[in-house]
Amino acid sequence: MKPSLSVNLKNASGFISNEEVIALAQQSVRHLDTLNAGTGPGNDFLGWLSLPDDIITQLDKIEKTAKHLRSVSNTTVVIGIGGSYLGARAVIEALSHSFSPHLKTKHNIIYAGQNICEDYMADLLEILDQTDYSIIAISKSGTTTEPAIAFRILKDHLERKVGKPVAADRIVAITDARKGALRSMAELNGYETFVIPDNVGGRYSVLTPVGLLPIAISGLDIRALVKGAKAMEELTRRNKVAASNPALLYAAARNLLLQSGKQIEIMVGFTPKLHFMAEWWKQLYGESEGKDGKGIFPASVDMTTDLHSLGQYIQDGQRILFETIISVKDPAKKITIPFEKNDSDQLNYIAGKRLSEVNHNAEKGTTLAHNDGNVPIITISIPTLDEYYTGEMIYFFEIACAVSGYILDVNPFDQPGVEAYKSNMFALLNKPGFEEAGKKLKNRI
Ligand code: PA5
Repeated sequence: MKPSLSVNLKNASGFISNEEVIALAQQSVRHLDTLNAGTGPGNDFLGWLSLPDDIITQLDKIEKTAKHLRSVSNTTVVIGIGGSYLGARAVIEALSHSFSPHLKTKHNIIYAGQNICEDYMADLLEILDQTDYSIIAISKSGTTTEPAIAFRILKDHLERKVGKPVAADRIVAITDARKGALRSMAELNGYETFVIPDNVGGRYSVLTPVGLLPIAISGLDIRALVKGAKAMEELTRRNKVAASNPALLYAAARNLLLQSGKQIEIMVGFTPKLHFMAEWWKQLYGESEGKDGKGIFPASVDMTTDLHSLGQYIQDGQRILFETIISVKDPAKKITIPFEKNDSDQLNYIAGKRLSEVNHNAEKGTTLAHNDGNVPIITISIPTLDEYYTGEMIYFFEIACAVSGYILDVNPFDQPGVEAYKSNMFALLNKPGFEEAGKKLKNRI
């Protein structure tokens, strides 16, 4: 199957010309060359480029482990934060039933370790008291505070609930091959483990077991996902003809919009199923580009919901925004609006139409209105939300992000700014080694 994701810049053309986009996209072929040669900044973290091939040998083990956890439990708690959680959640929420927890036959996925909220954890434990569950603990470093705390609490809960040996059979750790507390705990307790390769950073790791194991447990087809990613790799990674390379076009267009004063990019979906895809995208682009005083600020909205809140600002507020709409052509399911004899709600003018037709017209109407309000719009279209096209989208956004980072002249594979809050928190909590820093900080608050 050929890749079908496409980038349409028609509604950005009043702000950046097609010639400019093609020119910058064509110049950016050198960034693809740099990525492929591994000679640019962050070149220790380029393993994601060839994951669509490299991961194939691990799919059997991932599927086998997924089958095992599904057979011994009806819920899996995925523990992780940032790149160790958002990719899996993005795919699972995009492709699963919108009300999965209410379908008694399905295996549920719930998430922990992405916050330190006591009420969230207490609520979760209440649910887990009555649930037959497994745990996947994911942390590349194996030492990140939020998932480490969640794992300590949930491991203790599970061990008390089912006993240590059964708990060990229901816990899977995904972490570094050698380093970190999670690796040591897995070895000590005999957990099943998967490795996050050294050369794949957290936010680029969705096509490793980090994303694929939770996705497989949720019942989705990880082989189709990887196939879609492979098709996009073939279309983008070595394609030097800018006009036919959607990743180059997207990277060039968004950088030209930034240069024209549009500092905020809003990811827009017209289905709530894309909510977490936008969260994943925000992390990917925010952590990759926001450094050295540079970068486009990534934001997101869910339409049409947010047309009744942030829609006002987008239409009429400061003109510093552009939008990137993910336009999904066909929904997977079908609902027709019923006819009503009295037409008391005056909706008979759309009776007999699919709900998706109304939604598509809302999308078109919004595009035109925002364009009239001086908001440039990039449209990324996919035929439908399934594993294959989601795989395409993942690889597309990853490679476009790497190219875009190089256009901005930043290292798209590090995140030095993430450390600042951590060392302050450790100092304030009197973590051994941070006492002196703690004394200074306590005077400031
Ligand atoms: O993209 C990244 O590298 C980060 O967002 C990490 O994924 C996140 O901080 C979690 O780190 P770890 O997997 O080491 O627990």
